[in-house]
Amino acid sequence: MVIPVDLGSRSYRIVVESGALDTVGARLAELGVGKHTALVSDAAILRLYGKTVARSLESAGFAVATVEVPEGEPAKTLAVAARCWDALLAARLDRTSTVLALGGGAVGDVAGFVAATYMRGVNVVQLPTTVLAQVDASIGGKTAIDHPAAKNLIGAFHQPRLVLVDPAVVRSLPEREFRSGLAEIVKHGIVLDADYFAEVERDAAPLCARDLPVVERIIGGSCRLKAGVVARDERESELRHVLNYGHTIGHALESVTGYTRFAHGEAVALGIVAEARLALRLGVASEETVLRQERLLAAVGLPVRASGLDASAILAAITRDKKARDGRVPFVLAPKIGAFQLTYDVDPDAIRAALRELATEAC
Ligand code: GLY
Repeated sequence: MVIPVDLGSRSYRIVVESGALDTVGARLAELGVGKHTALVSDAAILRLYGKTVARSLESAGFAVATVEVPEGEPAKTLAVAARCWDALLAARLDRTSTVLALGGGAVGDVAGFVAATYMRGVNVVQLPTTVLAQVDASIGGKTAIDHPAAKNLIGAFHQPRLVLVDPAVVRSLPEREFRSGLAEIVKHGIVLDADYFAEVERDAAPLCARDLPVVERIIGGSCRLKAGVVARDERESELRHVLNYGHTIGHALESVTGYTRFAHGEAVALGIVAEARLALRLGVASEETVLRQERLLAAVGLPVRASGLDASAILAAITRDKKARDGRVPFVLAPKIGAFQLTYDVDPDAIRAALRELATEAC
């Protein structure tokens, strides 16, 4: 499946195909870029796929410098970015060169940031290897490193030249990481496309069993939905906020639990439940709309209840949301499956009550 991301002179394609990593060299050659490349990845991913990608690039005539970064969020620091810049210089990358980000969301973020800033911007190709990165982080050009004050505070919009999604690689992900990525898939269905949501409902079992044709179709569907949003609002002036569904409360949950208790997708799943219940309280959504979301999240093995949460700390974290405008935090609400609305100035008592429901017995 090839999905165009329509952004004028910054347009690119998302290729979703089993075995796509073997084709990176030929596909990069088609773009007419310079011969120097830097393959940015972490040790674990390099062990699994480094050779495949490097071989494909070299057989298409590219010179490859491999740049290893730490695994996960520790990769997203200024010190790591500086090491990458040094490595790019040493490998003689110039303005026609390409940085390839092979890995999960953290590798994509830091490699994208390095590509956005080195020589005022060089090509970046995203080669995402987690579900989360395949359906969300690799598409749309958001790049970032962290600041001690908050995650993703320093960054740039820098669209990739190509996103190559190989759905076969997610079959080797640890179970928890695989399921965590499914939260973004469910999110896309809830706020963007009722038919897609119904498809995920129908195929939840083979999806969880990682049946490859189903994984490929569902991941491709999610990429298409995200591409459509990015094409209409590249810089997140309004519509792109829709992708934040479940994340306003989800990010706050991650922050108050020190990023250790929940995987990102688990926090997003709980955020979706709380924000769905908020919509019910505000008279925006029906109970059946809320229950369908909870049922699907539970069916794909994501949490829909959590105890011991500190509502005051969560509310305080919400007010620090990066998406706030002049202190007003935008909430995405789903009035029905396949639709959304943006709401500002939500009553903190309604948020507290929705959070309390996370600790009640699941139905
Ligand atoms: N992950 C949300 C966005 O790309 O806008």
